[in-house]
Amino acid sequence: MQFSLAVLPGDGVGPEVADEAIKILKTVGKRFGHSFNLQYGLVGGVAIDQEGTALSEDTFKMCKHSDAVLLAAVGDPKYDDPQAKIHPEDGLLRLRGDLGLFANLRPVKVYPALLDNTNLKPEVIDGADFIFVRELTGGLYFARPKRQWRTSRGRRATDSMTYSEQEIERIVRVGFEIARRRRKKLISVDKANILQSSRLWRQVAIEVSQDYADVELEHMLVDACAMRIIQNPRYLDVLVTENTFGDILSDEASMLAGSMGMLASASLAGVPQEGVNIFGMYEPVHGSAPRRAGQDIANPIATILSMALMLRYSFGLIKEAQIVESAVEEVLEEGYRTYDIMGEGKIKVGTKQMGDLIAGKVGG
Ligand code: IPM
Ligand code: MG
Repeated sequence: MQFSLAVLPGDGVGPEVADEAIKILKTVGKRFGHSFNLQYGLVGGVAIDQEGTALSEDTFKMCKHSDAVLLAAVGDPKYDDPQAKIHPEDGLLRLRGDLGLFANLRPVKVYPALLDNTNLKPEVIDGADFIFVRELTGGLYFARPKRQWRTSRGRRATDSMTYSEQEIERIVRVGFEIARRRRKKLISVDKANILQSSRLWRQVAIEVSQDYADVELEHMLVDACAMRIIQNPRYLDVLVTENTFGDILSDEASMLAGSMGMLASASLAGVPQEGVNIFGMYEPVHGSAPRRAGQDIANPIATILSMALMLRYSFGLIKEAQIVESAVEEVLEEGYRTYDIMGEGKIKVGTKQMGDLIAGKVGG
């Protein structure tokens, strides 16, 4: 089979971790006879530096015309000034918004090999395995009004948590579809005791649930959910929530997996269904980690696992995706660790070596 892929390595450790994911993709291609046509582009701080914008039109078009996009990381402290006119993150948001990538899947899994590597009690997190379905193109990130202005009594600013019923319905459907293939339990996370947008969210979730009699729907307030994630994570299976809540909860949940460097994500333009390839963008949940850049120490696993999600959702290569995921587990079982997941008596490796070890298993 033949696929086209846009690769946006981005900032900080992005290029290093992207290289390892591509190394493994090429290994998959070789072993199973697929060809991946790769095209590279700039996004984020490097794009501002070299092209004067966080995402050029040409790069946007290249992404739009590919079967999938692999994006490693954006963000550069040089552009952190809150008064700056352009931010590296603008490129990422343009891609999410204008490519219609409304469904962001973030699987969270506790690896047995990393059980003792987290800050949490092993007996509490052992066996936890759940997935966030985060709305990605609405709410505070995108809705208008969104601005800062001056008044006679000082400066003011606003962002809007606005949702239409259509926006809520399509993301809740993604949640139900995924729940149907797992433990048949969907938790809709909101703040319906306070927020109007959450009250609509809850009503729509209840309405959509009529189409999914086989799935049990539970509502959970976002603050309670933040607590539940570390109190009893095995209780959770599929969680559907709005953009900002999902952003915050997924960083929290990454601690169950031992490190931000372990969490993958898929941003899809449609409802995932068996046998249907969906356009998507794949990125690790972690950021650009500028202080770790250029030292060959960053953990490439989140990007490699994101690439596995790409094989699954955009290319329909289920067996290949599983092989990559098992290779990651095996390498962890054998005791290899990057600095962020290092533990006593384990073997410390760099970015490239971790990639080589995983590629070695994937190569068969
Ligand atoms: C994420 C990141 C992004 C977000 C940033 C980099 C804009 O934190 O993917 O979770 O806030 O969505
Ligand atoms: Mg985030």
